[in-house]
Amino acid sequence: MAERRPLISGNWKMHHNHFEAIQAVQKLSYVLSSNDHDAVEVSIHPPFTDIRSVQTVIESDGIPITLGAQHCHWEDSGAFTGEISPGMLAKLNVSLVIVGHSERRELFGETDKEVNRKATAVLASGMTPIVCCGETLEQREGGQAAEKVTRQILEGLAGLKAEQVAGLVLAYEPIWAIGTGKTATPEDAQEMCATVRHAVHSKWGAEASEGVRIQYGGSVKPVNAPDLMRQPDIDGALVGGASLDPDEFARIIAYRLVG
Ligand code: PGA
Repeated sequence: MAERRPLISGNWKMHHNHFEAIQAVQKLSYVLSSNDHDAVEVSIHPPFTDIRSVQTVIESDGIPITLGAQHCHWEDSGAFTGEISPGMLAKLNVSLVIVGHSERRELFGETDKEVNRKATAVLASGMTPIVCCGETLEQREGGQAAEKVTRQILEGLAGLKAEQVAGLVLAYEPIWAIGTGKTATPEDAQEMCATVRHAVHSKWGAEASEGVRIQYGGSVKPVNAPDLMRQPDIDGALVGGASLDPDEFARIIAYRLVG
């Protein structure tokens, strides 16, 4: 079985201007220990307007936090008012890009086809996509959760090679658990992350399914992180609200020290 390095990602969404972002990353670096960095890869995903400032702090202070973005377009350049290209992010040493977050899908109408274009473009620019999937409460209650995330994975990753899929990050985020304070139970989260891994296995084989890292997201907090992270198919967490406070985020990253 391949060793998968845990990845805990802070998705700041539309929070923190660039001054606040600088303070947050400095504080986070202060509260994280070298043991934390040895055990877990930590990434932060600030709004676009903060990325250059955060990059400068991370690089000048030698902070071992991976710089991420929340979204991008799939084209390299062009007449796409308001959009940001993968190449622009790569130039800022961004290495992880969240693709197909449920808020993008639900509020901005992103489709599986667009998610696929974006994931492909992010890889082509030398970065790694964090491809998100997840079901609504209605779909869960109707027994369609597994089918929904399997389709999102197969369509979102269509056309990628097994070795590319092996290096990806996928995030299972039940929509009903995002920002609601409701978390999937560790067992439910495990079952769905295993479903995601199974979908990868069915199409890209064992090497891809053992290599791919699968995060759980949806109201992850210091109190529930240890039980979630103990599950065999959960390799990390995509954290929204609780990543805005560096102390709280650091306590999630220190999940292994609990229990
Ligand atoms: P939340 O958000 O932790 O605030 O529920 C998770 C996410 O949307 O990535």
